[in-house]
Amino acid sequence: MSDKSIGIFDSGVGGTSIWKEIHQLLPNEHTIYLADSINAPYGTKGTKKITELSVKNTEFLLKKDCKLIVVACNTATTNAIDYLRKTFDVPFIGIEPAIKPAALNTKTNAVGILATKGTLSSALFSKTSGRFASNIKLIEREGTGIVELIESGKLRSDEMRTLLHQYLEPMLKAHIDYLVLGCTHYPYLIPILLELLPNHVKIIDSGEAVARQTKAILEKNNLLNTAKVNPKLEFYTNGSVEVMQSLLGNSLDIDYLKF
Ligand code: SIN
Repeated sequence: MSDKSIGIFDSGVGGTSIWKEIHQLLPNEHTIYLADSINAPYGTKGTKKITELSVKNTEFLLKKDCKLIVVACNTATTNAIDYLRKTFDVPFIGIEPAIKPAALNTKTNAVGILATKGTLSSALFSKTSGRFASNIKLIEREGTGIVELIESGKLRSDEMRTLLHQYLEPMLKAHIDYLVLGCTHYPYLIPILLELLPNHVKIIDSGEAVARQTKAILEKNNLLNTAKVNPKLEFYTNGSVEVMQSLLGNSLDIDYLKF
């Protein structure tokens, strides 16, 4: 049993989509979320820079005595998690695009993947797609500009619709029946994607699986918080508190903090 916090970081506000799943599954856990919005997007940066930023974020959370760290960013996971695991003595949970369930269930043998350049070009991504989807046609698209629009509060904008339309077109031409969201910012696009996609295309993201994995690793390490307390929910950002609030809503007792 441990009443220390779970630490969660992302290049910005997108990882709050993962935080929501974790908080729903583990409502007693104290959490500290770090949004490095000033450096978003990570997806256009090289591995060295992404690793450097991920180390800084980890050090911030470890100074706050976090017991486990969720790298709630696909780009940071695919580029830096091996280094983080080798460097710090704390369990890390990472996020990979959910290629496996899409590859196992596709009927058209065509799966769309929307992710950042940093994720699509990573060694971990090619290893995962080679392992689970070697017989499947993967239609990969870099979601250039999406993270920037979300970070600047333009989630529901005409610009976003235009971009998404452009990225989905080649996927629909290839008759995908699954769309894998390979960036933690993208679950916030689901209401728009549902309008743009035909009904038979299913959308997959990794949020629930990550929450289950977080619980399993806490259990394995005897780190679950079993006390029934009101959890402390701290959200640090070096970007806009308003954008973060707009994604999290007002119903939770959250402390928003600038760093
Ligand atoms: C980004 O910062 O470019 C996106 C983060 C992610 O890959 O989840």
